[in-house]
Amino acid sequence: METRLSVNINKIATLRNARGGNMPNVLKCALDCERYGAQGITVHPRPDERHIKRQDVLDLKPVLTTEFNIEGNPKDQFNQLVLSVLPAQVTLVPDAENVLTSNAGWNTVANHDFLKKTCKMFKDAGIRVSIFVDPVEDMILGAAECGCDRVELYTESYAKNYHANREQAIEPYYKAAVAAGKSGLGLNAGHDLNLDNLRYFAQTIPGLLEVSIGHALICDALYLGLENTIRAYRRELL
Ligand code: PXP
Repeated sequence: METRLSVNINKIATLRNARGGNMPNVLKCALDCERYGAQGITVHPRPDERHIKRQDVLDLKPVLTTEFNIEGNPKDQFNQLVLSVLPAQVTLVPDAENVLTSNAGWNTVANHDFLKKTCKMFKDAGIRVSIFVDPVEDMILGAAECGCDRVELYTESYAKNYHANREQAIEPYYKAAVAAGKSGLGLNAGHDLNLDNLRYFAQTIPGLLEVSIGHALICDALYLGLENTIRAYRRELL
């Protein structure tokens, strides 16, 4: 089974925003990512619009031809945006406003009622719902209780410990994947995946449907170019 690559284009927007104009053009880059082999496009609009802006999300939906995944914290403004755009997938992330990037998965047990209500809202609108979680079995079972379709495993600790001991680094993810499979949940993963650590993750984790990758991929593109980079990431997933 092939794991699909969704390219997170936040960093393209960060670069554009640095100068206030429209270079690089986020829409064009997203379409080029698709042309080069991305099987999905991910955006993470934040309330401060420091990278992807609300308008980008609205502009992207009608032109994308692959799976559109919008991730973020399901607060009112985010929910309204997602419901007006109707992407293929929404990924619920408990990110605080003052952090550089997502730094934890949901506590799906403590937030059960809230997540259940949120999953229902999006699923009623025909959107697939994924919940971002740490690789902890109780959190996977908790996510299943909330009625989501998938979980996205937060891979930061895998990536951090990969070079020291990759077997040890991946163990909780393997167990989490088995628990997800038993619970009938689809499996995504993301955060800090790169050309070094991706292949081992995709080959070891059973049932991995999708990875979303942004930071390392855009960094690699500075050296390799966007087309070569996306093709290189796809090769790691074959
Ligand atoms: N998944 C989630 C929930 C994220 O917040 C991010 C970062 O925006 C990613 C995946 C992608 O992480 P990275 O940019 O490190 O590839």
